[in-house]
Amino acid sequence: MKAIAIDGPAGAGKSTISRRVAEALGFIYVDTGALYRTVGLKALRSGVAAAESPALRQMLRATQVDIVYRDGEQRVLLDGADVSDEIRTPEASRMASAVSALPMVRAYLLDMQRNLAKTHDVVMDGRDIGTVVLPQATVKIFLTASAEERAARRFAQMREAGTNITYETVLHDMKERDYNDSHRTVAPMTPAKDALIADTTGITLEESVEKILELVRERL
Ligand code: DC
Repeated sequence: MKAIAIDGPAGAGKSTISRRVAEALGFIYVDTGALYRTVGLKALRSGVAAAESPALRQMLRATQVDIVYRDGEQRVLLDGADVSDEIRTPEASRMASAVSALPMVRAYLLDMQRNLAKTHDVVMDGRDIGTVVLPQATVKIFLTASAEERAARRFAQMREAGTNITYETVLHDMKERDYNDSHRTVAPMTPAKDALIADTTGITLEESVEKILELVRERL
């Protein structure tokens, strides 16, 4: 099986680029952030704090997270119900970042991610795919862009989706999340030693897709 690992901070264009690269190669696209978001949503709904605790262990034991593909689109199921839209709110994003720092949660989601890559050719995006989940990935890319540009892209998407939020809030949330994701002790966001670094600041997503596809094709 072949695996392409695409890591990097929120808003660098990971999901759009990964989806397009997967389409071009005929691989499945796995958005691992959606898994942390789903666990975060469950914690929010259950009133369980983002801390290693017996309550969290209990919650995880009673939680079923699944990935399914509908019309080629990844959907996530929480205890059998499709929560792909609910996991995108600002609260769910914050909770996802908080629970993703917990070893218990990372261990809970690890096998699921590895099993997908055992049975399919994948383009998998996240924060620790090249470093922890799939250290043997065929190609590793670390995608990045300035925080301001990433916030501006996210802000535009949210406005389009009808979310009432200011650019300053988006930028603030993004910097906070970057900090949490790269400073946690378990599997912090950092480029793998053998990752290709791609900075998408100032270039369109269209151009980024082309650039990444070229890099990937060279190495496959
Ligand atoms: O990519 P995203 O914004 O949907 O990710 C949501 C959160 O999950 C993000 O704050 C970091 C965390 N995450 C992680 O720790 N490891 C991954 N492989 C993917 C996401």
